[in-house]
Amino acid sequence: MLFQKEFSVSDIQTSAPAAATVSKNKSAFKPVHAIRGMNDILPPESALWEWLEEKVRTVMQQWSYRNVRTPVLEHTGLFVRGLGEVTDIVEKEMYSFQDRADKQGDADHLSLRPEGTAGVVRAVSEHSYLYDGGKRLYYIAPMFRRERPQRGRYRQFHQVGAEALGFAGPEVDAEMILLAHELWQQIGLKDVSLQINSLGQPSERQRHREALVAYFEAHQDQLDEDAKRRLHSNPLRILDTKNPAMQELAAQAPKLMDYLGEESLKHFEQVQAILRAQGVTWQINPRLVRGLDYYNLTVFEFVSEALGSQGTICGGGRYDYLIEQIGGKAAPAVGWAFGVERVLELIKEQDLVPAAPVPDVYAIVPEATALPQAMALLTALRRQGIKAQLHTSADSAQGMGSFKSQFKRADASGATWALVFGGDELDRGEVAVKALRHTQAQTSFALANVDALLAHLQAPEAQ
Ligand code: HAM
Repeated sequence: MLFQKEFSVSDIQTSAPAAATVSKNKSAFKPVHAIRGMNDILPPESALWEWLEEKVRTVMQQWSYRNVRTPVLEHTGLFVRGLGEVTDIVEKEMYSFQDRADKQGDADHLSLRPEGTAGVVRAVSEHSYLYDGGKRLYYIAPMFRRERPQRGRYRQFHQVGAEALGFAGPEVDAEMILLAHELWQQIGLKDVSLQINSLGQPSERQRHREALVAYFEAHQDQLDEDAKRRLHSNPLRILDTKNPAMQELAAQAPKLMDYLGEESLKHFEQVQAILRAQGVTWQINPRLVRGLDYYNLTVFEFVSEALGSQGTICGGGRYDYLIEQIGGKAAPAVGWAFGVERVLELIKEQDLVPAAPVPDVYAIVPEATALPQAMALLTALRRQGIKAQLHTSADSAQGMGSFKSQFKRADASGATWALVFGGDELDRGEVAVKALRHTQAQTSFALANVDALLAHLQAPEAQ
C-alpha cells in the first residue's frame, strides 16, 4: 500500500484533562514521544555529529565536491521510476501520502525521500545543471525509510552522499571509491572492507537475467516465497537472499561476470588498476547487487564486521541511465552514500570519539547588576574567537547563586578560565581572571583593555 489514510486535525486529541484531575506535580498532558525509529540528537552526542560533518566538509572541499540541497518531499513517482517499482524501498518502506487537493481538485502523491540520489538527479536535470559539463556534488541530509528499527537501522536516518554527474570514465568510479576511503582515513576508522562488483550494461544484464530465470525455474521447488515473487520481476535480487536455505542455490546460479562484454570488463579492470596503484584493497563480490535498480557497471560497498547485521556503512555505484529514466537529458553518473548513524556507531565502537567541546571562559557573576558589563565583555571576547559561557541562574528571583555554586558550575563546564565579575573588581573597572585547570595566580584586567585580557587568555604557557 503506497498511500496511507489522511488524518484530520480533529483526529488528534489536543485538549488537557480537567484541572481538578491534575495533581500539583504532574503535567496536565500525556507526554508526547518521538516517532519509533526517529531519534533526537542532543548534546553531547550532537557534538560528535558536528565533528563528523566538519570532517566531511573539509574532505569534500579538498576533492572539489560542492554542496547540494534538495527538498525532503518529492513526487512519489520520482522514486517509483528512479529506484524501481519492485525494490523493498518502493514496495514497502516509503512514507507516502496524498497531498491536499488544489483548487482544481488535483492532489499530488508525495513521499519523504528514502535516499538522496533521485532528488539530486531530478534537480540537476530540472536546472539543466550539466549544460557546461560534469559536476561533483555532495549532501548531508536526513532520509526516511519505514524499516523495522534496530541497531544501525532507523526510520529517519542521515546520509552523507557524493554524486559525480556527467562523467563516464572508470577514473570517476575509482575517484568515488577513493573519496570514501579517504574519509575513513581522516576519521580514523579501521577494519572497513571494500567489496566491488560490476553489473555490466543493460543488454548484458538482460542475457544474464534470461539465464538466471531459466536456472531458478529449473529449481522452482527450492525457491522461497520471496524468490518466487521476484523470479520474473527482479531475479537478480534473489542472489542477495538472506535465507540460508537458498544460499547454496544462489551461489551456483549463473554469474553476471560471465556475461559481461569486453568494454564492461575493461571498465571494471581500469577501476581496479587505479585502486591498486593507491594501495587500496578490495574483494570482488559477485553477489553484490545493491538494493536499488538504477545501477550499471561498477557497484561497491564498504562493510564493517563490528556492527552486526547492519554492517554496510556505505554503498554506491554507477547509474548511467537514471537521469534519462526520470526524463532528463541522458548523462552518465556515479555516486555513493554512507549512513551517518552507522559510521558514528563505528566511531564509538573503535574509541575514536573526540573530546567534547568546552568553553574557554566561564563568567561568574555574583550580582545581577553586573550582568550588563559582563555580557558586553563576553561579546567582545567572542568576537575575538574566545568561546565564552555566561553563568545563568535557573530562577532570577533567587539571585545569581553563591560564589561557591557558580565556581562549581564553572568547573563542570570544562572551561579553562573563570572571569569573575565581582562588585569590587567592577568598581575598579576590572574583571578578575582565575585559572581553573592550572596553577596560575589570579590576575585582574581593565574591562576597557580587551586586547591585554585576550593575550593573557591565549598565552601558550596558560594552555
Ligand atoms: P543505500 O545502500 O540504500 O544506497 O544506502 C546507503 C547507506 O545508507 C547504507 O549503506 C547505510 O549505511 C545507510 N542506511 C540505509 N538505510 C538505513 C537505515 N534505515 N538506517 C540507518 N542507515 C541506513 C543509497 O541510498 C544510494 N542513494 C547510494 C548512492 C548514491 N548510489 C549512488 N549514489
